[in-house]
Amino acid sequence: IVKDQEEMNKKIEELIATLPVESDGSALFYQFKGCWYPNIYSIAAIQGTITADLHFEAQDSDIILASTPKSGTTWLKALIFSIVNRKRFPPNKSPLLTTHPHILIPFLETGLYRNGNIPENLDQLPKPRLFATHSHFVSLPHSIRHSSCRIVYICRNPLDTCVSLYHFRRSFGKNQPDMDTMYEKYSRGLTGFGPFWDSILGYWKASLEKPEEVLFMKYEDLKEDLVFEMKRLANFLGVPFSVEEEEEGLIEEISRLCSFEILKNLEVNRTHKPYGEGSAPANAFYRKGEVGDFVNHLNPSMVENLMKITQEKFAGSGLVF
Ligand code: A3P
Repeated sequence: IVKDQEEMNKKIEELIATLPVESDGSALFYQFKGCWYPNIYSIAAIQGTITADLHFEAQDSDIILASTPKSGTTWLKALIFSIVNRKRFPPNKSPLLTTHPHILIPFLETGLYRNGNIPENLDQLPKPRLFATHSHFVSLPHSIRHSSCRIVYICRNPLDTCVSLYHFRRSFGKNQPDMDTMYEKYSRGLTGFGPFWDSILGYWKASLEKPEEVLFMKYEDLKEDLVFEMKRLANFLGVPFSVEEEEEGLIEEISRLCSFEILKNLEVNRTHKPYGEGSAPANAFYRKGEVGDFVNHLNPSMVENLMKITQEKFAGSGLVF
């Protein structure tokens, strides 16, 4: 198996050498199946995508959290983990109090299968298993697309996503793109797991075609009415809140545990690097947590231009931002 794996990794490396590549001035991006693979770990993530496609064995009970980067993935990881495991872990005993959400729900292509790794014993994880991905819908592992596991997708207003991404990249240290460069690349689709419109449209269409398998969520909706969105999420995941749970205030309790203020200030979310050295620090996943921060970073013509691009890309889809 090891020999096969080595050969496969070699083939993947050869394939990667043939892919379109672009720079944003500080990082290289490789385009694979229409998706730009991101900043520091593009090759490892492409290897991860192909390896997960070949080896990941989805179970019908699996829950897959898919997202565009900087759209609320960390928040939704905390919410999904808490909702699904609420019988095992009541909020005051939650592993979230001592473990970063990105550890509790690992990424497939940039985590478990990164670099062509094949993780062992995934079938021994407690059910439902929880995984995350930034892959576009068309690049999801074959077994996910051909099973009836549930996929929850989250995205966010492109203006705030772009600004959030700019700050996140800066947490990696010096030599990151300035705001103008980030904006220009983002507007052309050249960002990690971009173009954002392809990511969003892929899951949007899938959610219309298979609403029982794909739930489409927006960061702004979570901010506006979290209790409603949590109920929608729990219903979709097949673990609706009971009347008793609602009366006991469990939804509010979970929402409080997963709130920006609580999570941001936990020791585990301030001082570690969840993906090890060279990765973003834990606190880079908690910056401001607001809707509309773009007004502080983008001028009116940048806003108008990006909204125009977004409207054109989403024309006729029924999607509005
Ligand atoms: P800002 O940079 O605008 O503050 P992701 O998790 O996909 O990387 O997205 C990160 C964004 O979600 C950041 O946005 C971050 O602050 C925000 N975020 C993280 N945890 C949150 C929470 N519990 N509630 C609301 N927003 C949160």
